[in-house]
Amino acid sequence: MSFPARLSLLFLSCVVVLAAQEQKPPVTFTAEQDHQNMMDQLGIKALRPGPSGNEKAPNHANYDESLANPYSNVPDPLAMNDGRKVTTAEMWWKERRPEIVEGFEKYVYGRVPKDVPKVTWKTGIVDHEFLGFTPVTAKELYGEVDNSGYPAITVKMHAIEVLPAAAHGPVPVLILFGPARFPSPNEPRGDELARVNKAYKAMLLQQDPSLKEVFERHPAWEPLKEPPFFQRPELNEDGDQPNVWQLAAAGWGFVLFEPASVQADNGEGITRGIIGLVNQGQPRKPADWGALRAWAWGAGRMLDYLETDKAVDAKHVGIEGVSRYGKAALVTMAFDQRFAMVLVGSSGKGGATLLRRNFGEAVESLTGGEYYWMAGNFMKYGASDATFGKMTPGDIPVDSNELIALCAPRLTFISYGVPEKGDAKWLDHEGSFMATIDANRVWKLLGAKGLDLGTDYHTAKMPPVNEGHLDGELAWRQHDGGHTDAPNMKWFLQWAEAQMVVKK
Ligand code: GCU
Repeated sequence: MSFPARLSLLFLSCVVVLAAQEQKPPVTFTAEQDHQNMMDQLGIKALRPGPSGNEKAPNHANYDESLANPYSNVPDPLAMNDGRKVTTAEMWWKERRPEIVEGFEKYVYGRVPKDVPKVTWKTGIVDHEFLGFTPVTAKELYGEVDNSGYPAITVKMHAIEVLPAAAHGPVPVLILFGPARFPSPNEPRGDELARVNKAYKAMLLQQDPSLKEVFERHPAWEPLKEPPFFQRPELNEDGDQPNVWQLAAAGWGFVLFEPASVQADNGEGITRGIIGLVNQGQPRKPADWGALRAWAWGAGRMLDYLETDKAVDAKHVGIEGVSRYGKAALVTMAFDQRFAMVLVGSSGKGGATLLRRNFGEAVESLTGGEYYWMAGNFMKYGASDATFGKMTPGDIPVDSNELIALCAPRLTFISYGVPEKGDAKWLDHEGSFMATIDANRVWKLLGAKGLDLGTDYHTAKMPPVNEGHLDGELAWRQHDGGHTDAPNMKWFLQWAEAQMVVKK
C-alpha cells in the first residue's frame, strides 16, 4: 500500500474509533430514576398514587358500580376532533382513523420511531414433534436487529414457529405472546436411545469405577427410559387440551413469541432493548414508545417473516395474549392492519377497558409502577401538580372504545374470565364490555356485522358468564375460568374459522 493510501486508512480508522468513542454507554437508571426523569421532562411535580389491588386496604380501588363512571361520556370514535360526524366508510379510513391513531401514538402508547433498524430472521433448531396425535414442525427463529449504529446494545428476538407437518396448503397462524420454548421436544428412542445409554453408562463408570459391580448385577438396566408414545398434557383449567394442542389439532400453525426478547418488562430496561437501541441507550422523550408498542412492533416483524413463509396463509395471521400481553395483542391489532384477527385475553386498563372508568386498576396505576408500558406523555393524566396544572383521565383525548374500533372490521375477540376464579375485578370486565359495544358502531359503519345488542354503551349490560356473542367479526365471551384465555380457545377457533369462511 502506498504511503498516502496508508495515511488515509489511518485517518479513516481514527474517525471510526472517535465515532465509537462519542457514543455513550447505555444509561443504567433504576425504574424509579427513569420514572423521575420522565416526570422532570414533563414538568410533573406530583402524581396521584394508584389504588391498591387489595380490597382490604384503606386505599383500595373502587368496586362500586355506581361510582364507576365519573365522566358522562367517552370520546366518540365517529366524531372528528373538530366535531364533524363520521358518516361514511371513506371518511373513517381517510380522516377519522388516522386522527385516532395519532391520538394513541401521541398521548398513550408512543410512536414507533421512523428509523428502527432492520431485522434479519435466522433459523435455529428445527424439531419434529407431536402435539397429542398431531405431527408438527417446530422451528426456532431469531430476529437479529441491526445494531451497527449502536453496538453497545444487542436485540435478538426469539420465537418458535410451529406448523402442522401434514398441511395441504398454507395455514392460518396465531402468534402467542409469551415464553418461547419447544412445545414438545422430540426425544430419542430405540437404537438412538440405546447409544445414548451406552455412552451414559461409560461416563458414569469413568466418574465412579466402583459402579461396574452395580451395572454387572443389573445388566439389563437402562438409565434413560423410552418416553411414552403419547404424553399426557397438562390440561387447561376447563379440562380441555392445552391451547397449542387445540391449535395444532385444528390444522393451524402458531408462533410462541417472547416479548422480553424485544423489550424488558420493567422500567430499568427502557434504555436497553429495542427502545434503548433506537435511543442509543439514552432515556426516552415523552412521545417515545413504551413496552406495549415495542412488543407490538416485534409481533409486526414476526409477521414480516411469516409473509415470506409459503406454508403460512399470511392473510390469516392473528395475535393473542393475556393480561399485559392482552393489552399488547390489542395494541398490535389496532396499529398493524395486516393482522387479520386477535384474541384479547383479560387485558384491563391500557387494553380493552375504558381509561375513563373508575373501577379496579386505574390510569394512576399505569402512570405509576407500570409507566414504562406507555408513552411518557401518558403520565400527564395522573399528574396532581405540574407546570401545566393537573390532569385527569377525562383529559385523555382518546379511549379504549376507539382502540378497539381501530381493529374494525377485522376479527376481534374480547375475552375474560371470572373474579371468583382469579380473573380479578381489578380488570373491569364491565368497562371492557362498554368499550366493545361502543366500538361496534365502527364495524357497522364499515358494513360488517360486528356485535350489536341493540343498546348503547351507557345502558349495555355485560352478558352472563359463558354466553358467547360469536356471530359477528367483533366477539365477546366471558368464560367461567380464571386469569387466562384458555377456556375461550375452542370458541375462538370455531368463531374464527366460521368468520374466515364467511369472508371467502
Ligand atoms: C397487573 C397489572 C395489570 C396487568 C397484570 C398482568 O395486575 O396491574 O395491568 O394486566 O398485572 O399482566 O398480569
